[in-house]
Amino acid sequence: MKEQLTELTSVINNTLEKYLEAKDDNSRLVYEAMQYSTFAGGKRLRPVLLLATHKLFKQDTCHALPFAAAIEMIHTYSLIHDDLPAMDDDDYRRGKLTNHKVFGEGIAVLAGDGLLNKAYEILLSEIVEATNPLAVAKAAKVIGEAAGVKGMIGGQVADIISEEKEISPKELDYIHAHKTGALIEAAMVSGAILAGAKTQDIDNIQKIGRNLGLAFQIKDDVLDIIGDENQLGKQIGSDEAKEKSTYPKLYGLTTCHKMIQELTEESNQILNEYLPQAQFLKELNNYLMDREN
Ligand code: IPE
Ligand code: IPE
Ligand code: MG
Ligand code: MG
Ligand code: MG
Repeated sequence: MKEQLTELTSVINNTLEKYLEAKDDNSRLVYEAMQYSTFAGGKRLRPVLLLATHKLFKQDTCHALPFAAAIEMIHTYSLIHDDLPAMDDDDYRRGKLTNHKVFGEGIAVLAGDGLLNKAYEILLSEIVEATNPLAVAKAAKVIGEAAGVKGMIGGQVADIISEEKEISPKELDYIHAHKTGALIEAAMVSGAILAGAKTQDIDNIQKIGRNLGLAFQIKDDVLDIIGDENQLGKQIGSDEAKEKSTYPKLYGLTTCHKMIQELTEESNQILNEYLPQAQFLKELNNYLMDREN
């Protein structure tokens, strides 16, 4: 699994480098800021999931690579903005100073905008150049909706307005499923659509993506309490400082571990239908459950 993960990550990094090459003097500064956060050392989980899900149904991922790069750009933009003083006000990300700490808030906002826009430039180019534009457009729509106000942005809004408040389990589920779950789910679903998966299979993938998204954010909350800052690449205690609503706060650490385990087991059960191709995703699921960063 580790070997395949390294291989996928390397292909993703090469694709991102190609798309983010600085072109002319006027855009050099914003490109530098966009590159700074993109190549700071993220796990590349969303593009890996997109490609690995694609491989369940079709081995050749050539046409999925631009989608993988685009979803990582959207994710990186969301992190740059999430760290701004107006949001979580964090100083470290991916083991380095946050974007606004290096480039200033104005450029950090614009670098985020630049990455978001670039993602759609890539997706639209893929639609224009596709031999089967409808399937490609469907996959792009899934990503667009997940990143938008009914997805990630909606979750971030709920996250911010819930600071210093007691919220219900249902409201917390909404935050996690949207701020983090939506993009993870979209990565897997768009990978399946691009590979030509059937409706029943896409439904299964959606369920797995939903579980993984929730488990991933519960673990993120847990690591914000008991994680190691050097391994995480970001400071811990950020949620408590901002009085965020989190899973550990509502349920305690032990229950969180159990929830993560149950969500992972349920997903792996569905993945059994797709063996042997699904072996990588099963192992990745288990690895993420125990991740330290
Ligand atoms: C961090 O995401 C923010 C969340 C949505 C939980 P990741 O843990 O995937 O961060 P990187 O991309 O590896 O830096
Ligand atoms: C981040 O959630 C979600 C998005 C960036 C969309 P968090 O605020 O918990 O992520 P970290 O802990 O800063 O990485
Ligand atoms: Mg946040
Ligand atoms: Mg944050
Ligand atoms: Mg967090």
